[in-house]
Amino acid sequence: MFSHKSSPWDAYFLTNTQEGIEAYQAAIAAAVQTLTDWVNPQQKSYSGLAPNVLAADITAMPCCPDKGTDLTVVLNQIGQSIVQNSVSVTHPTCIAHLHCPPLIAALATEVLITATNQSMDSWDQSPAGTIVEQYVVDWLCQLYGYSPQSDGTFTSGGTQSNLMGMLMARDAYAYKKLNWSIQQQGLPPEASRFRILCSDVAHFTICQSAALLGLGHQAVVPIQTDASYTLRGSAVDQAIAALQQQELLPIALVATVGTTDFGSIDNLLELANCARQHELWLHTDAAFGGALALSDHHRNKLIGIEYSDSITVDFHKLFYQPISCGAFLLKNKTHFDLFKLHADYLNPEDNADLGIPDLVTKSIQTTRRFDALKLFVSLQTLGRETLAKILDATIDLASNTAQLIEDDPELELAAYPTINTVVFRYCPQPHSTKHNCLERSNQINRQVRLKLLQQGDAVIAQTKIGAYTHLKFTLLNPRTTLSDIQSLLTQIKNIGSALDV
Ligand SMILES: Cc1ncc(COP(=O)(O)O)c(C=O)c1O
Repeated sequence: MFSHKSSPWDAYFLTNTQEGIEAYQAAIAAAVQTLTDWVNPQQKSYSGLAPNVLAADITAMPCCPDKGTDLTVVLNQIGQSIVQNSVSVTHPTCIAHLHCPPLIAALATEVLITATNQSMDSWDQSPAGTIVEQYVVDWLCQLYGYSPQSDGTFTSGGTQSNLMGMLMARDAYAYKKLNWSIQQQGLPPEASRFRILCSDVAHFTICQSAALLGLGHQAVVPIQTDASYTLRGSAVDQAIAALQQQELLPIALVATVGTTDFGSIDNLLELANCARQHELWLHTDAAFGGALALSDHHRNKLIGIEYSDSITVDFHKLFYQPISCGAFLLKNKTHFDLFKLHADYLNPEDNADLGIPDLVTKSIQTTRRFDALKLFVSLQTLGRETLAKILDATIDLASNTAQLIEDDPELELAAYPTINTVVFRYCPQPHSTKHNCLERSNQINRQVRLKLLQQGDAVIAQTKIGAYTHLKFTLLNPRTTLSDIQSLLTQIKNIGSALDV
């Protein structure tokens, strides 16, 4: 019989020994202390340290000393140099990116995910985990209106899910239209003529995917959106006609549900119609807007998503999960066969006959975290209605923020928000200087953002619309109030006017 004798390594691992359990409890308590020292009423959105100062501080610690130090001492050191110099994602004015405050339910579950250390590639590395992930994936497929023919997998996020979507599109086209297996034969001679259509404000990972898939950036055809940054079917039809004239081969159409800068949502029904007519793979990048499906008030914005051949959805955005957590969903699960592989040591072919599920067959990752658990626990704990309330509140905040900006003559709103992002700029006063207006506006807006970061008062983003640098708020935090925003806008105007000389 296997015995549990004490080992000199007990204090390093969470084992069923007294020493292991006590060491683990003490370590977690020390980590929690480090965190709660950081999360205090004086906490700023960022400490404001410049990159070189921060680098000098952190690199003062040797990366791999010959002899280790007690964990509480190390946590204390990194608490000072690293945790205290992290951006505070729960701070009301940390509003730059699609970077959410994570739910406590999910944070607690992370403790279980990391300590149980299940790996999602094979059943014998994650028996319960495999069932949970499949259960959550099946629920997601239903949420987006897919039939039981659908399936999916958890991913590291939108980048991986978009890559999988483009991979499926490329391989399905070659298989169906050219009788060619890219998995077996590599790229076909026609590949240099493959084209992927998306809006001119689609996420950059569509271009990145095309490059990684051997099609090059040349394969991506950005199509002009309308005044509200929405891609319309008529523009797609025109683009396809132009490509056909050049004997190029449109293989896929990407719809974006929540563009990163504007939150705009492409016209899903029109794009589904184009995709059907022209036999294109329709991939919907709902990394940002996928969570709208939870809300009774906003679900209608996703009408038509069910026609997509594949969907990207991110949970480390509007599902309030800690990084990383995303999913890739497929309308027709047989498409996973396009990249299916069997490894004798991991997922032998007879597993299917034996009724053993292997999630690795559906993923481009092998070892993979059990991230489905934190989403599952969050859904159990908050329930759909509370999650929807959080979502609705943040969307209302974005809309009220836009109104404040629109009513302010010193600020210019770029577009009315569809979800949570508000893009605007400080407008310099029109007085005569040697600088032209565009250059002055760009300099001032860049400086405003930098000053707020250096002062630790707010972490906001910048982006460009045409030649103009704009500022961006991404309002995911339900604790941010309109009065926080009012104060921040006043500060932006004060900094802007002080620079506007
Ligand atoms: C629309 C969209 N798609 C894809 C991504 C990439 O997602 P991730 O950062 O999770 O890889 C983002 C990231 O912000 C996004 O906004």
